[in-house]
Amino acid sequence: MKTNKIKRIGVLTSGGDSPGMNAAIRAVVRGAIYNKVKVYGIQRGYQGLVDNDMQEMHSHSVSNIIQIGGTILKTARCMDFMTAEGRRKAYENLVTRGIDALVTIGGDGTFAGAQELGEEFNFPIVGIPGTIDNDICGTDYTIGYDTALNTVVEAVDKIRDTASAHNRLFFIEVMGRNAGFLTLHGGIATGAEAIMVPEYTNDFDMLNIFLNSAQKQHKTSSIVLVAEGDELGGAIKLAKKVEKDHPEYDVRVTILGHIQRGGSPSAIDRVNAGRMGVSAVEALLEGKKDMMVGLMNGKIVYSPFSRSKKEKRPLDPHLMDLIRILSI
Ligand code: F6P
Repeated sequence: MKTNKIKRIGVLTSGGDSPGMNAAIRAVVRGAIYNKVKVYGIQRGYQGLVDNDMQEMHSHSVSNIIQIGGTILKTARCMDFMTAEGRRKAYENLVTRGIDALVTIGGDGTFAGAQELGEEFNFPIVGIPGTIDNDICGTDYTIGYDTALNTVVEAVDKIRDTASAHNRLFFIEVMGRNAGFLTLHGGIATGAEAIMVPEYTNDFDMLNIFLNSAQKQHKTSSIVLVAEGDELGGAIKLAKKVEKDHPEYDVRVTILGHIQRGGSPSAIDRVNAGRMGVSAVEALLEGKKDMMVGLMNGKIVYSPFSRSKKEKRPLDPHLMDLIRILSI
């Protein structure tokens, strides 16, 4: 049930950008206007709240952005907002502008900030998960993950061509901070021979078993995807170790880097952004706060911000097995 207390909402993107954030901003702006609520775009995440850098947005402000990567509102990791003084300034700016509620788009750092502001000033905030890492509990998909996964697949397929031409072993480093979702799913989708993720510590043994047997199997190329957060320290370190232990391999390293954060969002990311954006506005109008909107089993769900701080989203162990089975 909608209550009519909220007249103006603010929207911001914070933390690392992800493809589909613009589609989410568009959905929030149009979802608000549809419900006769004014909407303000806040620049550079929480920094714009602290600096009072925000403008009213209209339906045309978000025309022709659904297909563009990055974020028109810009983003930042804001140090000021980590202080009680910074958050008070942010709150005062919101009150002065008559903004009653906020939608914050980002990852767990964004939600931690939202939780603090919401609790300190009893201010209604609903979050939308936007990060390529897909590491947020309470949603099957974060906005940007599907696009980044497809970017990984496209890049690794290209590397496979040259790896195969030279009979080489490639270590390819994939983003994800402390999470291995892009690496695991990217590994399955590209037929990687092995993956290294921070969630599992026995993956180095699995890699050695594979390396000891691969030569006998006459593999013409081998691809190992390494999550940047892997406990062994990333692709360069790992490659050096393997080169020493296995001189029979011709080893190369590629770090995919920020290419994974850019590009036009996939259809899935655009649809998810549309659904979550409008749902976030509706949630605020229904009186929800301190919550993130998510998608589980195809349905819109809500979970408290505190969950993303307390729980680490696990990788599916069956998918770890799948890598091993499919690489024989
Ligand atoms: O959280 C998104 C992410 O791209 C991570 O995968 C990566 O570790 C980090 O951001 C990189 O951050 P920055 O662009 O600030 O170097």
